[in-house]
Formats: sequence, structure tokens, C-alpha cells
Amino acid sequence: MNWIYVLDDAALLEGRMVPAYPIGVNVLLARVEGVVFAVSGRCAHMACPLFTGKLDGYTITCPCHDWQYDVRTGKFLDAPEIGLTNYSTKSEDGKVFVSLK
Ligand code: FES
Repeated sequence: MNWIYVLDDAALLEGRMVPAYPIGVNVLLARVEGVVFAVSGRCAHMACPLFTGKLDGYTITCPCHDWQYDVRTGKFLDAPEIGLTNYSTKSEDGKVFVSLK
């Protein structure tokens, strides 16, 4: 895997979401139960920025028309065949990395 640094581990608090743009790719980072997840930052419906939506447990709600996704998989809850690209993450030495592959 090709790991890309995205932010310091301490910058992402529990239950919060932040955007990141590793090599120009729009990624949404979220921490739930201490684990950092990464999915595409644009809604699969009409590309609204998901970081301005809500995170409740593992569910992201888009701010525009309330589509909901599982942050662990990126899947749209109403139709799992639709979804966000899901990226691998790792934390190391106080830093968070994402793999875009
Ligand atoms: S753009 Fe996200 S629900 Fe419509």
C-alpha cells in the first residue's frame, strides 16, 4: 500500500469528521470508537461535502438530502449497492495515513 500522511492523530476527535485532500483526492475522515475511517468526501447523490453533515455512531448523514452511509464501509444504508469509495487508514507515531488504492 502507498500510505499518505493526512493529519496528526490528535487533530481528529472521537465522533468527529474532517475533510482531507491527499494528493488532491477529496476524503472524509471520521473517528468512531477510537478507530479512524476514511471514505470519499463527496456524497454519491449530488456530491455535497459530507464533512458538513452529521456523524451519529457509524452513520454519516449528508447535509443536503439526508442520504445516510455507514462510515466503516461507505455503503448507502438504503441501497448498499450504492456507496462511497472506502479507503484504508492507519495510525503510526501520532500521525494518520490513508491509502488511496
Ligand atoms: S447530495 Fe447528499 S443526499 Fe443529496
